[in-house]
Amino acid sequence: MFDFKSRRTKLLSKIGNNAAIVTSNNLKQRSNDTEFSFRQSSNFYYLTGHLEDNAILLLTPNSKDKTHLFVQKKDPFLELWNGKRLGIDQAKVKYSIDCVYDIDDFSKLYQELIINHDSLYVELETKFWKRGDVLKGFKDLLNKRIKAGKFAPRNLLNITPLIQELRAYKSQEEIETMKHALKITNKAHRMAMAYTKDGVYEYQIQGMLELVCKLNDNCPMAYGSIVASGNNANILHYVENNTKVKNGDLLLIDAGCEYNLYASDITRTFPVSGKYEGEAKALYEMVLDVQRSDIESIAPGLTLNEITEKSAEKLLDGLLSLKVLTGSKEEHIEKKSSRKYFPHGLGHWLGLDVHDQNPYTDSSGELIKFQKGMVITIEPGIYIPEDDLSVDEKWRGIGIRIEDNILITDNGFENLSNHIPKEVVDVEEACSKDWRSFLD
Ligand code: GLY
Ligand code: MN
Ligand code: MN
Repeated sequence: MFDFKSRRTKLLSKIGNNAAIVTSNNLKQRSNDTEFSFRQSSNFYYLTGHLEDNAILLLTPNSKDKTHLFVQKKDPFLELWNGKRLGIDQAKVKYSIDCVYDIDDFSKLYQELIINHDSLYVELETKFWKRGDVLKGFKDLLNKRIKAGKFAPRNLLNITPLIQELRAYKSQEEIETMKHALKITNKAHRMAMAYTKDGVYEYQIQGMLELVCKLNDNCPMAYGSIVASGNNANILHYVENNTKVKNGDLLLIDAGCEYNLYASDITRTFPVSGKYEGEAKALYEMVLDVQRSDIESIAPGLTLNEITEKSAEKLLDGLLSLKVLTGSKEEHIEKKSSRKYFPHGLGHWLGLDVHDQNPYTDSSGELIKFQKGMVITIEPGIYIPEDDLSVDEKWRGIGIRIEDNILITDNGFENLSNHIPKEVVDVEEACSKDWRSFLD
């Protein structure tokens, strides 16, 4: 398992004389006594490995005991209904944390624990404001201390950027975990390619793809699967997945599972008939060439912006050479045509979250440069809606995206998803397989 303790130690070394609180996710009510399925907060998991709701990590660098975890205590009645809890004693054994307490005692205990710290770090932008016990506890503490003329922590600070700095660089173990997620996602996309045929519904293909993730290590999806045939692919976040697919259309699938909470994020676009043909084939090969060359250019020191600009220009060149667009390159640069047909970013950080929260610029506004251990997606696309009267009819209604997950290495890159078919011959072969073979 991951070295959660060394992650806490690294964070402790970044917070100086300040205390820090990182909270778990809480259950969200769906209706009456039913909740939405629970997924742990990525930051909280990163620092603790604890998978239950209603828990808090407190770091106090100025005290002898520096790490404190508040968890739900054992409760036979609630565990009968809602499942086993780790409890305080087992959490002590499992987590190498200095002190473990009952979460019900949090409000009572934490003010004392943070008193001799300058300020308090919390996740200011998100859960903190919903977590009334932390907010009220901090206000009460300030009021009490200030009235008594005593020193009190001065500020609320944002812990998120400090955790992001750690999460940006993946350890060998994290990379292995992401590779495992991709191994299952590979099988899932191959199932979708094999299962797809004229007349099935997009949601049936989604069901088969997600079944493979479930059957292999019970992996949940890292985000809502996009299964978009024909013109539906031109809606970037299409998740209705309720159209019957038909020969002659391409099918764009953007789907990936998560394994031990680490995400994969893969898009493939393949023909419903199993054979790329005509304009769809020409456009697919053009996007594939661009995506390959984007990936091959990746090296430490580059920024995502630089490859995005180059990719947009290559896509524009491709549209002009296929004569999807007519007129001069200068005119289309002026009109920003490449943004019209490629309206999203080229990629994003990937990790515990599908869009890992790491920023793209630093505190002085400089673009962040790629460094060894970072993972990004590369996902150029071309989208030509069926009602775009400015291009020849034969190109309309085609949407294509190809997305891989790329690790930055010492002097280049490793494509972590290069086993998921994307070359024309490989995809066509995958489409011809028997889908039942993916149920083993
Ligand atoms: N799956 C969402 C994205 O590709 O960014
Ligand atoms: Mn994606
Ligand atoms: Mn993506």
